Amino acid sequence: MCGIVGFIGVRPAKDILLDGLAKLEYRGYDSAGIAVLEDGLEVEKSVGKLANLVEKLKDKELNATIGIGHTRWATHGKPSDANAHPHTSANKKFAVVHNGIIENYLQLKEDYLNDVCFQSETDTEVVAQLLGKFYDGNLEETVRRVLALLKGSYTLVILCSDYPDLLIACRKANPLVLGVGEGENFIASDVPALLAYTRNCIYPNDGELCFVKREGITIKDSEGKIIEPKIKQILWNAEAVEKNGYEHYMLKEIHEQPDAFRRMLKNRLKDGKVYFEEFTWNKEQAKKWRKIHIVACGTAYHSGLVGRTVFEKLAKIPVEVEIASEFRYREPMLDEDTLVIAISQSGETADTKAALEEGKSKGCKVLALTNVVDSAVAREADYVFYLQAGPEISVASTKAYTTMLLAQYLLAIYLADLRECISQDAYASLVHQLTLLPQYAEKIMLEENLKQLAKLAEEYHDTENLFFVGRGMDWAIALEGSLKLKEISYIHAEAYAAGELKHGTLALITDKTPVIALAVQGKTYDKTLSNIKEIKARDAKVLAVVKEGAEQIDKVVDKVLYLPAMDDMVMPILSVIPLQLIAYYTAKDRGCSIDQPRNLAKSVTVE
Ligand code: F6R
Repeated sequence: MCGIVGFIGVRPAKDILLDGLAKLEYRGYDSAGIAVLEDGLEVEKSVGKLANLVEKLKDKELNATIGIGHTRWATHGKPSDANAHPHTSANKKFAVVHNGIIENYLQLKEDYLNDVCFQSETDTEVVAQLLGKFYDGNLEETVRRVLALLKGSYTLVILCSDYPDLLIACRKANPLVLGVGEGENFIASDVPALLAYTRNCIYPNDGELCFVKREGITIKDSEGKIIEPKIKQILWNAEAVEKNGYEHYMLKEIHEQPDAFRRMLKNRLKDGKVYFEEFTWNKEQAKKWRKIHIVACGTAYHSGLVGRTVFEKLAKIPVEVEIASEFRYREPMLDEDTLVIAISQSGETADTKAALEEGKSKGCKVLALTNVVDSAVAREADYVFYLQAGPEISVASTKAYTTMLLAQYLLAIYLADLRECISQDAYASLVHQLTLLPQYAEKIMLEENLKQLAKLAEEYHDTENLFFVGRGMDWAIALEGSLKLKEISYIHAEAYAAGELKHGTLALITDKTPVIALAVQGKTYDKTLSNIKEIKARDAKVLAVVKEGAEQIDKVVDKVLYLPAMDDMVMPILSVIPLQLIAYYTAKDRGCSIDQPRNLAKSVTVE
């Protein structure tokens, strides 16, 4: 969703702001703008892609060394130049960029700003106008007075024309990161905007006011007391957010999966044992948990569907998996013997955060699986397991999904051991299988296999409806395969439990509805094969995804994709990879915008 950048230094701000905004494009947006401080505030905004803004600014000589920028994903008011940020106060003293939602903006307009002529339909402009209205020369007090009135969530960066040496930034339940440079400092909503300039970062807390100057950063708490900021080193380098020769981020991120697995395994395995130094669980605690609730959205939710089987099978704990936006409205039965696992790549998803809060309010311990250090979900959870997948730029999640899977396997093994319900042999064999994963994943992505997948994808060029089917963990993978195809190729795809088709949906199967059938799991292989025959009897073209050595299948279906054979338990981590690639090649074949599909945003910070 929206992206924020801010810069103060000695270099021209314009280029740095535009570069930072380009690094945040992946989050999804519909307009962009910057404000810099020359003799007065100079603001330029443009609806559509960042390139439109760049074009507008091309011949504008701006030497300012302080400024703010924004990419907007419309919530209040349609995408337009006027609604794009930054927003300014009527007296042209303040420019403001904002992520989040000011829930009481209409009330604030009525209470304080009746006489102001608004330039936009946004909630954000209220903040700029309030600052302008209340300003009496004392900037800090004015900002505090405005913040005290705001309800909702926000990251705000404020530029005041009376203060050419200062940017003020603050947050409430929205991400904010400050980049520490030498003689220059940076502000962003997300680390990729900073990486080209610095890897030293500060993550302010809710309620703190950040005074960002050229020579340094001062942070004050809500009472005005100065606090010592902790500087953290970001481990990613600038290349991690580049395409590195790949045509799309999605393709790059699919290829990064084997290394992401290696990294996680290296950090979590010692002498064949799974360990989590950051958790202080003992046997007693692990045995106390009577239930796990996994809460997540979209792809992360799909990872939980695989996780359910893994936790139940290995750690012998009943698991419920729930779409986070449904969770709290159902009034789930939770108590202190329930472990809530919140899974979120971005760690910012509002629905997942709300579900996590629901769990905490009922006395549950919450474990977060997330890829983003210090994200909202990570901050609020009792325990955090960082996926360390590296930045995921493509909107369609791939490496975050498979590392979420691997993380849940490792957690399940760890818990199973603490709960004394796994034999040493089973433990050792599973760990061994997991260590083989990176090389098996690489096999799937050998050049000849990629060619085969691209060829298979050509079949779907003109498809309007497609079904994925499978049973058990194959079904969970089918759900993820169908989401990937939908979101980037815009083909309507549905994933169905193979055994459930005959209870209604089979009516939709014709020679015009191709089917991708997963029959990877041995336990359900014969039953799925029968379901595939039912589909074939309705003339649908079937691509079967099976393990090497699978029998009979080639006589039943139109095409077969053989996957390198590992233990059934770990196969889901492998079998999703060709589905990611089929979605990718299909979308490419159809000329879709792969990394930034229509209507979607990388992190969804509204409920
Ligand atoms: C699909 C996709 C989304 C996200 C969902 C949750 O490819 O990426 O379905 O999985 O919006 O996002 P996170 O994991 O950031 O909470």
